[in-house]
Order: sequence, then C-alpha cells, then structure tokens
Amino acid sequence: MSRYWSEVVKHLTPYIPGEQPKLANLVKLNTNENPYGPSPRAIEAIRAELGDALRLYPDPNADALKAAIANCHGVDARQVFVGNGSDEVLAHVFLGLLRHARPILFPDVTYSFYPVYAGLYEVPFETVPLADDFSIRVDDYLKPNGGIIFPNPNAPTGRLLPLAEIERLLEGNSDSVVVIDEAYVDFGGDSAISLIGRFPNLLVVHTLSKSRSLAGLRVGFAVGDAGLIEALERVKNSFNSYPLDRLAIAGAVAAINDREHFERTRLAVMATRARLIADLSGLGFDVVPSAANFVFARHAKRDAAALALALRERNIIVRHFKLPRIDQHLRITVGTDAQCATLISALRAILAAT
Ligand SMILES: Cc1ncc(COP(=O)(O)O)c(C=O)c1O
Repeated sequence: MSRYWSEVVKHLTPYIPGEQPKLANLVKLNTNENPYGPSPRAIEAIRAELGDALRLYPDPNADALKAAIANCHGVDARQVFVGNGSDEVLAHVFLGLLRHARPILFPDVTYSFYPVYAGLYEVPFETVPLADDFSIRVDDYLKPNGGIIFPNPNAPTGRLLPLAEIERLLEGNSDSVVVIDEAYVDFGGDSAISLIGRFPNLLVVHTLSKSRSLAGLRVGFAVGDAGLIEALERVKNSFNSYPLDRLAIAGAVAAINDREHFERTRLAVMATRARLIADLSGLGFDVVPSAANFVFARHAKRDAAALALALRERNIIVRHFKLPRIDQHLRITVGTDAQCATLISALRAILAAT
C-alpha cells in the first residue's frame, strides 16, 4: 500500500494466475497448457517476421488475422475482434458490453477472472449456483439481468453445456448480451459460433492458448454480431491501438491455417484424457465428465490439498482451489501420455503410503 494509490487500486482484488515455476524437470499440469508444441508453421512464420520490419508498428487492426479467423469459422471479418490473449478480450467485454445497471450473471464455480474484471470495471454481478453435479441450469438464468457470461466447457469443472441449451438461454435473454467463453471448446464441444447469425446478442470468445498451443504468444478473439464487435473495437482503441505485435499476428495466422496440426494434437489430448479419467477412477477418484484439456477430480477418502502437496514433493504440479464447494477437488491438466503415467504412478504411491 502506498499513499499514492488511487481509490480504485486500493479496492482491487487481483487475479492470481497459476504458478509458472522456474524449475526444470517439473510435470506441470496446473495451467491447462497444451503438452504439444505449437504448429511448426507458426514458429516458421514468427521467425520470418524477425527482422527489420520490427521497427514498424504492427497493423492496428490485425486484418490478416481477422481474415484467417473469419475464414476458419465461416463468418465475416467484421464479426471478429482480436486481442492480447482472451483475457484482454474478456476485459474489454466487461467494460464495453456487460457494464449496466442490472447485475450480470455467472456461475458460482467458474473462471475466477470474471469477478476480478467486475471489480475493476465496477460491473454489478450475481453468482448463480451450479447444480450438485456442477452442471449449469439454464432455467436459473431466465430472469432479468445485465448480461450473462460463462465458459463452455466450464472451468474449472470441464463440464459442457449442450448447444441446444445455449440456444434456449439465448432465446430467453434477447435483451442482454450472452458471452460464451469457449477457451476449451475444441477439446470436445460444438462451438456456439454457429449461432451468431441468429442471435445478435451472442458473443463467443476463443483463445489460441489451449488448442493452438500458443499460450506464450498471447492471442485471443471474439466472434459475434458486428454491432457487438464495434463496442469492443471502441474500447480497444481507447486503451491500446496495438495489442497484437507483428510476431503474434504472423504466428497466429499460421496456426489458424494449420488445420492438420490442430486436429492431430487436439485428438491426442482427447485420447489421453480418456485414459487419464479411467486411471483416476481406478484409484478411487470421482471425475467430473470433461470436454476440456483438464479433468476435475475428487478422491473419495483423501484431502485434496494434502494430495496436491504430496504431488508437489514429487515435482508434479496440479491446481487446487481453496474455494467454497471445490476445495476437495484437484484440477489436472491433460499432459502427454508419459506425464499422465508419471502422475498416476505418483498418486498410486501416495495413496498406498498412508
Ligand atoms: C475459461 C478461460 N477463459 C479464458 C482464459 C484466458 O486465456 P488466455 O488469456 O490465455 O487467452 C482462460 C485461461 O486459463 C480460461 O480458463
């Protein structure tokens, strides 16, 4: 605390990102990164961009990237917004589309950045309890609100809400913006982007951090009606004209265009996830059905914080949230087969030891 702080800063509760330890030889299963590298074509494109052109500003509109995303998802480039990671896109969404007099709605168990943005931009919100099995009950969102936001699949549960339910949610909320954060949708869900032509109040947010394996490049995007996109552009152009640098634009375009790498790696993650769920269940864990690149699991007899600590002593990091309803769960990123095998044998040893 310093006496020079503004009132806003004094009252912030910042988000705490998953740890990025500076240790070698870790089995790092705590921040839902992709265990496979990015597309080699993306790396090549970034290398090709490294040169004299870096003295010039990048394209403030990232038109090449918007065109690649539009082409990939069968939409118009005017329906695409791009930002420095989907976190930045989400921040602009809170200020540009969700800040109204009525409270916005999101689940009680969800991405913990949402209440942080709400705090930063003074957006009133109400949390809506998930059902006991962690599913989202659309009926609970059919009431007056200033907007709705949740990830699908949800984080940190991994549970997917079927597209037909999203449609029902949209039909019942034509007066407010519905934001579906599809950070993990490529690992097992159908994207709501297919609905944007029918629902001018739908905004779908994606990231290249997970299924495109580019968390380090910081690229995210939103797809929705051109009117919603214009709101985000107005916020962006009042904040930072160049959120994506030249390297990010070049790498992201190549990654989006490399369908083969994308399909192969996401299918590999999904196959490993099925084995991981079976192995965890065999060790006595209840695992929430997952459509994401992580699983959310609770052991019938063991304390989750103690398990996380015992894993850490064996150089394996998973995520444990000290939060109501989920403090007995572990969120485990799907790694390579070898990483998951290391995790399972460590858990087997930990469970056998005491
Ligand atoms: C649900 C959800 N949305 C958005 C993000 C942010 O992703 P990024 O800023 O890397 O695009 C994350 C990151 O873990 C997430 O879990």
